Amino acid sequence: MHDLINRWISRLFNRGPGRSRSRPLFALAGALVGMAAAIAVTGLWHLGATAQPSDAPVELTMLLHVPEAQQWRTIADRFEAENPDLRLKIIEGPSATNAIEDLHTAAFILGDSPYDLIYLDVAWVPKFAAAGWLMDLRDRLTPAQLAEYLPGDVAGGRYRDGLYRLPFRTDMGMLYYRKDLLEAAGLEPPETFMELIAASEQLQRSQGVDWGYLWQGKQYEGLSAMFAEVLAGFGGFWVDPETQAVGLDEPAAIAAVEFLQRTIASGISPPGTTTYTEPETLRLFRTGNSVFLRNWPYVWNEVNRPDSPIRGQVAIAPMVHAPGERSGACQGGWGLGINRATRHPEAAWRALEFFGRADVQKQFVLENSYVSSLRSLADDPDIQAAYPQYRTWVEILDNYAVLRPPVPQYAQASDILQRYLTAAFSGSMTPTDAMAAAARETRSLLGTA
Ligand code: GLC
Repeated sequence: MHDLINRWISRLFNRGPGRSRSRPLFALAGALVGMAAAIAVTGLWHLGATAQPSDAPVELTMLLHVPEAQQWRTIADRFEAENPDLRLKIIEGPSATNAIEDLHTAAFILGDSPYDLIYLDVAWVPKFAAAGWLMDLRDRLTPAQLAEYLPGDVAGGRYRDGLYRLPFRTDMGMLYYRKDLLEAAGLEPPETFMELIAASEQLQRSQGVDWGYLWQGKQYEGLSAMFAEVLAGFGGFWVDPETQAVGLDEPAAIAAVEFLQRTIASGISPPGTTTYTEPETLRLFRTGNSVFLRNWPYVWNEVNRPDSPIRGQVAIAPMVHAPGERSGACQGGWGLGINRATRHPEAAWRALEFFGRADVQKQFVLENSYVSSLRSLADDPDIQAAYPQYRTWVEILDNYAVLRPPVPQYAQASDILQRYLTAAFSGSMTPTDAMAAAARETRSLLGTA
């Protein structure tokens, strides 16, 4: 459904040459059927229409992916306790960001989306803002207030002159490694792709671990996020935000695909890699049979739980890179926007203010090993005690952040990339042919062919 919705969305933005004028009706009909089904399945549709008695608390509805729907429970309870006239209704959605994005897109396109608060992945902002679905928050915050947030997170909430998302938590991709295994073999953490391969092979031989390196290879948004890092590590780029130039067919991009392909072909990464999202790679890493894992900060708490076989044995490093190049850390992260058509704009704004508070974010960080978008929390003694590497997380972002293309057509650009990476991994196309096709389609998408 993702691709269908995206093609329909693209018509909203009216880009790219050679668009057929005779097909929108079919596309629209197909898209609407899919969307209606999605909404019926999640049982959401009635929510927007539910009338509330005038003295009842105002109910704000928000869609959250697994596992955040559970993780938000404690701060949501606190919000309700401090704001007795407000209720926060959390609807639990699927875990993949693109699946949640599809649900929002469907609800907005059909009109009267039931969600008042929109919990937004940084990757969605240009599309949602350009489509006019979000309230512009620029006049709600002073420059001094905005300066309290990490600059990349603020930039990720902007589109043209507007501000559509208040940052909540940030994310950056990095390398997790088993320090016990590396120490046993007298190895330093790898810095280059070749060192990662060599260390993996050596430890698979000498320490009897099954796998060297775990990464997300399924055809979904996490593949694009991961690839953006490897691409940057080879000195390449996806889409230049200034010129809209596309770099997917350049030698660096082909080298990036070949590196990933090689990890599977040589048995460093499991054959199932092309079906893995973040949770599968984490589960495998946690069993103790792998040396390296690419993932986000939330992994920290998961590998250090009392029942984790690798508790206390894991350390982090920036992603590896080619000699002479720099690491890349995909800039991820989530923040809050307001549905422009909400019937409760002031209540929604009060919620944004509440979840923007340092004490609330501190609680969320301590409970879940996330990284707050508020810079001040990096100096908080409780957070430093709980996460000695917290400052390193922020530094990784400061030094190595890689953006996914901040364009309204991003979801489609990501679909194109995922499709051709999958073709290369499965062997149905060579890396060179796959990336040439990906570049061609991306240029046509952006109207720069
Ligand atoms: C994390 C990131 C988000 C990214 C997603 C991909 O949730 O915060 O930006 O799109 O992972 O799986």
